[in-house]
Amino acid sequence: MRNFIDLWDITPEEGWELLQSAESFKRGQESQKYLEGKHIGLIFTKPSTRTRVSFEVAISSLGGHPVFMMENSLQISRGEDIKDTARTLSRYLDCVVIRTDSHEKLKEFALHSSVPVVNALTDMSHPCQILSDIFTLYEVFGEEITSIKIAYVGDGNNVCNTWLVGAGLFGLKLFVATPEGYEPSSYYYQAGEDLCRITGGSIYLTPNPVEAVKDAHVVYTDVWVSMNQERDEEKIKVLRSYQVNKELLSYARPDVKVMHCLPARKGEEITEEVFEAFADFIFTQAENRLHTQKALLKFLLTQR
Ligand code: CP
Ligand code: NVA
Repeated sequence: MRNFIDLWDITPEEGWELLQSAESFKRGQESQKYLEGKHIGLIFTKPSTRTRVSFEVAISSLGGHPVFMMENSLQISRGEDIKDTARTLSRYLDCVVIRTDSHEKLKEFALHSSVPVVNALTDMSHPCQILSDIFTLYEVFGEEITSIKIAYVGDGNNVCNTWLVGAGLFGLKLFVATPEGYEPSSYYYQAGEDLCRITGGSIYLTPNPVEAVKDAHVVYTDVWVSMNQERDEEKIKVLRSYQVNKELLSYARPDVKVMHCLPARKGEEITEEVFEAFADFIFTQAENRLHTQKALLKFLLTQR
């Protein structure tokens, strides 16, 4: 049984296979009902547009049945412990997809679950997102994605942490620009570095957004205030010079691609003008969550 809690739960080889599988799903080359007769739980403590809907549609398209639960509708909200919830739900479900504000709670659930657990975003990581984003780049660059320059600019949050591991897993060249005090987690950085040693990837952290974006093929950003975070005006002020705008993009390659995991707060991490200029690519990025998660569910829930 395999969980998908962080990107290091799969091997580089499995990662590439997942990209190829996502491509087959997207091209309509896969029609088998891999999840026939399977019930997949989705437990969410936070709002979601893309992750929830793309998982529900992926599960249904593969012949499975999604069971969506907001955490506050479960006895867990009245104090039932995670351990008992995991042991109960494992008796009904074939897999549980969880979005929670606490990575530790997700790991606790997985420890007691006898069915695969998938991370649908925690405070620390968002592996479904980054796997899908790497698929989006794979569609454009093919295996050349290992030689392009990818820049992440902004808050060193869950999405940024996961990029570090994604770069390690797929051997990518990642430049990360975050302000002092808002760097990504050193634990995820180390995990990314360890993987880079195997795959030939590289990760470079800098407080300088221009250095990260210079000659980049891809510029990626995410919100400055993540879910469950208090809005901190000091932090917003510090991040102002990390906004993805026309001026910053003038340092990138002329054919740069801009990515955003969404939802976006236009006028903060990205200007409306830049967002609209790259909207088609950004919504392809959102669409690809569906294809990648089909590949992931097939990988986790069928015999290989
Ligand atoms: N990108 C992403 O995970 O979006 P949602 O919060 O809408 O699921
Ligand atoms: N960093 C954002 C990502 C949303 C998909 C958050 O956690 O809210």
